[in-house]
Amino acid sequence: MKRIYMDHSATTPVDPLVLDSMLPYFTEKFGNASSLHSFGQEAAEALAIARQQVADSIGAEKNEIIFTSGGTESDNLAIRGILDKKNSDKGKNQHVITSAIEHPAVLNTCTFLESIGYDVTYVSVDSEGILDVDELERSIRDDTSVISVMHANNEIGTIQPIKEIASIAQDNNICFHTDAVQSMGKIPVDVNELGVDMLSISSHKIHGPKGVGVLYVREGTDLEPSIFGGGQEQTLRPGTENIPGIVGLGKAAFLAKERLGHDPEYMNNLRDSLITKVFDSIEDVRLNGHPTQRLPNNVNLSFKYVEGESLLMLLDIKGIAASTASACSSKSKTSSHVLNAIGVDTEYIHGSVRLSLGRDNTTDEIDYVTQSLQETVAKLREMSAVSKC
Ligand SMILES: Cc1ncc(COP(=O)(O)O)c(C=O)c1O
Repeated sequence: MKRIYMDHSATTPVDPLVLDSMLPYFTEKFGNASSLHSFGQEAAEALAIARQQVADSIGAEKNEIIFTSGGTESDNLAIRGILDKKNSDKGKNQHVITSAIEHPAVLNTCTFLESIGYDVTYVSVDSEGILDVDELERSIRDDTSVISVMHANNEIGTIQPIKEIASIAQDNNICFHTDAVQSMGKIPVDVNELGVDMLSISSHKIHGPKGVGVLYVREGTDLEPSIFGGGQEQTLRPGTENIPGIVGLGKAAFLAKERLGHDPEYMNNLRDSLITKVFDSIEDVRLNGHPTQRLPNNVNLSFKYVEGESLLMLLDIKGIAASTASACSSKSKTSSHVLNAIGVDTEYIHGSVRLSLGRDNTTDEIDYVTQSLQETVAKLREMSAVSKC
């Protein structure tokens, strides 16, 4: 049976060019980048090239790139790094502003911060997932130290007005962080164009390896590290660097930038065709998220009278990999905080699926997925009608 992967927001396959670039650093080029001998220098050179590749892909300087273990660590380091620095400088209470629909890497960091005495404001979003910028502006206080709003949402794909939020943060002298884990490679991500102070990237969402990421930190932004050790990554993220992973991320970032002229438009067409075909063939369905301000690869649908988990399992039997919400929350039984925040009705919310497209999906696959959705939704509705009798 043919397998169709439509869960690229959870993770992406490693690009063969990325894998090729990494392999020598597992074998003959295994040096520690801090060692003075030629093995070490080889690793240090690879690290420098990868840093430049990532910097070039987002319009940054290479000294502004901090390699981490992924998006989660980058988000933690950004928010806690600012608060810890200000605390050690001034020792005053502080306030954080974020949105109600952030990834758990930000939301659970904020929950923890609240548990140790910080104040957090969760700004609401409208029914299409766009942040209420006026509410954000009104929530700014004298002790607001950091604002963190994601560039694009991982569940519904809505793209936020980051430039506008960055300018508000700047006018109020507040550090602004954005999580660009889902937007990287799908829409242009340029730190100066966006006006952000910090930005998170994860390698495995852009056809790179898992377990490596970046926090962009604008020069002059003062952070406290979360862990302590040697002097690597300007002491912000000490520990022997994951050279193969970093080399892979550098290559993936380079390719993502290079393919920006083609991949997003291709995925955009597939996305719109899938949405149109589903709406033409299935009744009682809604599209979650913004109709146009959305990632080119995101389709998030809710089917009335259907249970999302059952739909996923039946799609899996037909060879189709999709997801109910984000991969991280799909194992928890609670309904999505994002769909709740945009006000999806209870009769729809449990029948939600996310199909996140990739550059290797085809129009034939879109047809097969539409057909499978039509059959599966009909079957589940029939079963739920029978079970209600
Ligand atoms: C928006 C967003 N932020 C952060 C993360 C976490 O990234 P990582 O898996 O690299 O820790 C994810 C992963 O799904 C994500 O979608």
